[in-house]
Parts: sequence; structure tokens; C-alpha cells
Amino acid sequence: MENEKKKVIFSGIQPTGCITLGNYIGALKNWVELQNDYNCLFSVVDLHSITVRQDPVQLRKRCVDFLVQYLACGINGEDNLVFFQSHVPQHAELSWILNCYTYMGELSRMTQFKDKSSKHADNINAGLFTYPVLMAADILLYQTDLVPVGNDQKQHLELARDIAIRFNGIYGDTFTVPEGFMPKAGARIMSLQEPTSKMSKSDPNENGFISILDRPDAVVRKIKRAVTDSDNLIKVREGHDGINNLITIYSAITKKSNEEIEAEFDGKGYGDFKMAVAEAIIEELKPIQQRYDELIKDKAYIEQIYTNGAKIAQSLARRTLSKVHRRVGFVDRKF
Ligand code: TYM
Repeated sequence: MENEKKKVIFSGIQPTGCITLGNYIGALKNWVELQNDYNCLFSVVDLHSITVRQDPVQLRKRCVDFLVQYLACGINGEDNLVFFQSHVPQHAELSWILNCYTYMGELSRMTQFKDKSSKHADNINAGLFTYPVLMAADILLYQTDLVPVGNDQKQHLELARDIAIRFNGIYGDTFTVPEGFMPKAGARIMSLQEPTSKMSKSDPNENGFISILDRPDAVVRKIKRAVTDSDNLIKVREGHDGINNLITIYSAITKKSNEEIEAEFDGKGYGDFKMAVAEAIIEELKPIQQRYDELIKDKAYIEQIYTNGAKIAQSLARRTLSKVHRRVGFVDRKF
């Protein structure tokens, strides 16, 4: 019904490394849970990924692979728009315009920029610096109401809101000011090897993360090796990052509260708990991997999903972009 127009969700994952359990719990799982109540756009944000050097052959393959994993996780590619960011040129166009409404000081405060520039000291390119502006463009282009992301994107989201508010303040209402959506359990899943750092898909230590395509033996091995302390208590406590992280993962997957988990494993040790965590992960990932194995063979279907997604996304993006052009004072296009 027209007067029941659904609100809009936009979110994306960079096609780097592999989709981890952190990406899944922090973002993808919530996309699946929210998709029926919103008009959703889910993008593989390939433009973002080249802020770090990528091998072209690998990148092209990984982009398709990520998109298939979105679908395998349960994203309905027919009711939602699932597409590659580079197929909708309006993202880059709006990003340029928004660059002119974003301050150097704001961008230099971004922790992800500081972090990435220290990791890639030989390639601190301008794209890495203006990356959050492209992210703001992704979001604002579709008049997005809600952005489901993990905790690490909070600062970028705040910036997107600030840019929208600033632009609206100068030119009048142009952009919807978006809200973030972060899960109660699992907005920040930590590395299994260094539980004081977040689980990262570009971690060179494969034991630090679980890929959603990791098969059961790999999951068991990685969870067994996960760093914990030696006191064998399954209880959430400050400073016990390793066990806290495993409890968070278990809670996010089983939807049990910390108290329920603590009661369930009262009197049991890390060995039992780790096996339960591994089993919960394996059960969660099994149907995803089965769908992935089938879908990845269906090239025609995948192509149809991302082509159709980008076409409709373009028509939505054009609306916002022409509004922005009018606002800033560009001459109307007559073609
Ligand atoms: P990216 O590709 O690093 O991560 C994708 C999503 O996964 C979440 N995430 C995590 N959640 C919980 N625990 C973790 N350890 C963890 N690691 C990652 C991220 O918060 C994110 O939601 N800049 C974004 C991609 C992006 C985007 C956007 C997101 C570009 N444009 C517009 C939303 C809207 C990024 O690098 O995410």
C-alpha cells in the first residue's frame, strides 16, 4: 500500500579477504533479519576495496563470491537490490560533491584511516583518506533510514550523519539523516588469537578469524585454538577477553543471554564450552555453505540479480543526485 511505504536500509561489505564470522554476526545476519520490513540495498563495495592494492583477477572473482555469499546467507536478491557499487556511478559522483562539504580535520580523526595508514605505510593514498565520504555517499544516495553495521563503522556513520545535516542546513532538506543499527550481541567480534583486537578479514593469521565458508573441521580447529585464560570459568568478566568473545559468539548465534549461557555451563570447563561454540557455528554455517555451493554454479542467475539490482539502484540514485545538482547550482541537464 502506498501509505505504508517501507523505510530504506543500505549496507555493504568490502570485497577484501573473506567474509568472516564477525561480518556475519555484526552485519549480514541482521540484514537477513531486517530485510522483510525495509526496502533494502546491499552492495559489494568494490570502490572502497581499491583503497588498498588488490590483484585484479582475484578482486573480480572475490566480488562475485561475496555477492553469492550475501544470497547464500539468506538475502533475497529478488525483493532487495543486491549489486556492485562500481555498477552505479552515482556513488562516485555524489562522493565528489560531498568531499566539498567535509573537512580535512574530520577525516583525519577517523580511527580506521589512522589504523589503515599505519598498516599500509607505503600506500597512504587520497582514497584511503576520503573513504568515509564515499561511504556517506553510499548511504545518502538512497535516502537511507537505517544502516545495519558493526561497531567499527560507528564513527563513519556519525560522519555521514554530520555531512547530511550540514548539507541540509545549507540548502534545505535534501538527505534523510540515517540511523545506525548495531546488534545487541556481536557488534564487535574479536580475533580468536588476539581477543583485544577485532576479528578482521584481512588478518594474515588464519586462526584469528572464521570464514563463513570454513568447513566443520576448520571451525573446530580454530575454536579449540582460540586464546582463553587458564581459570576455566565460563563467565563474562572484565579483562577476560578471550572467553568473553566466545560467549558473545555463542550468544549471537543461539540468542541465549549471557546469564543463560553461564548457567548452562556452570561447573563445566573450556573444553566443553568450546565444543558447544564450534557446534553452534557449524550448524549456523551449514545451510549457508550448502546454498553457496549450489548458487556459485548458477552464473546466469547471479548475473541477473546484480544487473537488475544495479539498474534499479541507478534509477533511485539519479533522483537524489539530480536533487543535489539543483541544490548546489548546476545547470539542469536537457538530455
Ligand atoms: P567491512 O567490509 O570492514 O565490514 C563489513 C561489515 O562487517 C562489520 N564488521 C564486524 N562486525 C562485528 N565484529 C567484527 N569483528 C566486524 N568486522 C567487520 C562492519 O562493521 C560492517 O558492517 N566501510 C565499510 C563498508 C561500507 C559500508 C558502506 C557499510 C562501505 N559503504 C555503507 C555500510 C554502509 C567496511 O569497511 O566494512
